[in-house]
Parts: sequence; structure tokens; C-alpha cells
Amino acid sequence: MRDIQNIVILTGAGVSAESGVATFRGPGGLWEGHRVEDVCTPKALERQPELVHRFYDERRAKLSTVRPNAAHEALARLDAEWTGGLLLVTQNVDDLHERAGSTRMLHMHGELKSALCAACGMRRPWDAALPPICPTCQAPTLRPDIVFFGEMPYQMDAIEAALANADLFVSIGTSGAVYPAAGFVRTARHYGAQTLELNLDPSEGSIWFDDSRMGPAGTLVPAWVEEVLRG
Ligand code: OAD
Repeated sequence: MRDIQNIVILTGAGVSAESGVATFRGPGGLWEGHRVEDVCTPKALERQPELVHRFYDERRAKLSTVRPNAAHEALARLDAEWTGGLLLVTQNVDDLHERAGSTRMLHMHGELKSALCAACGMRRPWDAALPPICPTCQAPTLRPDIVFFGEMPYQMDAIEAALANADLFVSIGTSGAVYPAAGFVRTARHYGAQTLELNLDPSEGSIWFDDSRMGPAGTLVPAWVEEVLRG
């Protein structure tokens, strides 16, 4: 740990699982029988706008019933106490990292509590169910500010710059099934970072990690943060 200055952390649905937010894949996944790839696409929004809106409206409403868990809290502690560089990149669209207190972070797949107008590009915080009409341009094109399959994730330049400077890359609670996030471990390795995975089971890219620790994020993450801060 002595040589580590810059840390990049990638989180996925597994970090919020112990808060009661369902993960995407596997039994009991968020779409209950549908593959997330079949419904979270621009085409799905075009063909079944009510279904897609209802799905995200329900998930947005559910946020008020869940709370950050020990993993979110430990990552917020690391953000507050780590004096080197740190970037937390989350694939999650919930707001549990920021509610726990993380600030050096970004949402690469968008946020439930944000609205996007497909016509004028307006993005703004949004707490309630989404109406179809954009308040800025009045077009019937308001949509969840979520990066659908086939769309470009947010802030890729900032993420790639952080990966190029990372001494340690840590992936937490993600299946490694969705690119470009699933490729970050290889980018970080390419630039010489050590790589660590904390997950319930080995992810699809498990072989790319120098070290893999298996278990629940609520236990593994606080222990790892303690280790890092102790040096
Ligand atoms: P997945 O549902 O694909 O994977 C969740 C991972 O978390 C799995 O590897 C689980 O084993 C692990 N896991 C479950 N419970 C855990 C726990 N308590 N502690 C630690 N790990 C646990 O979710 P993501 O990898 O986040 O995209 O999915 C990536 C993207 O696919 C999502 O961001 C989403 C989806 O399409 C968008 O919404 C745009």
C-alpha cells in the first residue's frame, strides 16, 4: 500500500444488494423474467415507453425506502480520509454512494434521480415520476437519464484519464458482463495498476485481477478500506 497514490474504484449492483436493491442478473433479477438487455434499450423506449417509464419510476420511488449500507459508508470514509487521488466510478443509478457521503465519484450509467430530454438534451435533477413532456422544449421526449444498451456511458474521458494514472484499481459488486466498464480492469493493468476484485462470486473478468476476495460487500469493503487507510 505504501506505493499507492491514486485509486480508482468501480462499483456495480452488488454494492447496493445488502441495502435491498435488486441486482440485474441471476434469479430474482430486476426485470423478473425479462433480460435487462431486452428492455433497457432506445428501441424498447420507442416501442414500449409506458413499460420502460414505469420500471424506472418504480425504482426511483423505491430509493426513499432504502439506505446506504456498510460498503457505501466505508467507501465514503475512504473518500474523506484518503489524501491521494481517488475516483469512484459507479455503474449504479441509485444515489446510495452520495447519500453515504462520497464526493469524488461519478455515475457512468446515469442516475434515477435525473431526467433527460431526448430532443433538446436538457438534464436536470428529478425526484418524482417522469411526465412525457420536457419542461424546457415542450417536446414529448422526456426520458429517464439512464444510459441504455448501445448508448455511450457518461464521462468516459475522465474515467480513462483516472485509469491511466491509477496505482490500484478495485472492482466491487459487478458481474463484469457489461462493457465498457468490464474492460476497465484491463486498461488499468495496461497502465501498471494493481487490481483487486471484491465480489460475492468470481466475475466474468476474474482472471484479470491480481487478487480476488469473495464475500458480501458489506463485510469485505469495510475490511479493505481499513487495510488501505492503515497503510
Ligand atoms: P449484475 O447484476 O450484473 O452483477 C451484480 C454482481 O454483484 C454479481 O457478480 C453478484 O455476484 C454480485 N453481488 C450480489 N450481491 C452481492 C453482495 N452482497 N456483495 C458483493 N457482491 C454481490 O450488476 P452490474 O454488474 O452492476 O446498466 O451490472 C452492470 C450493468 O448492467 C448495470 O449498470 C446496468 C445493467 O444493465 C444500466 O442500467 C445501464
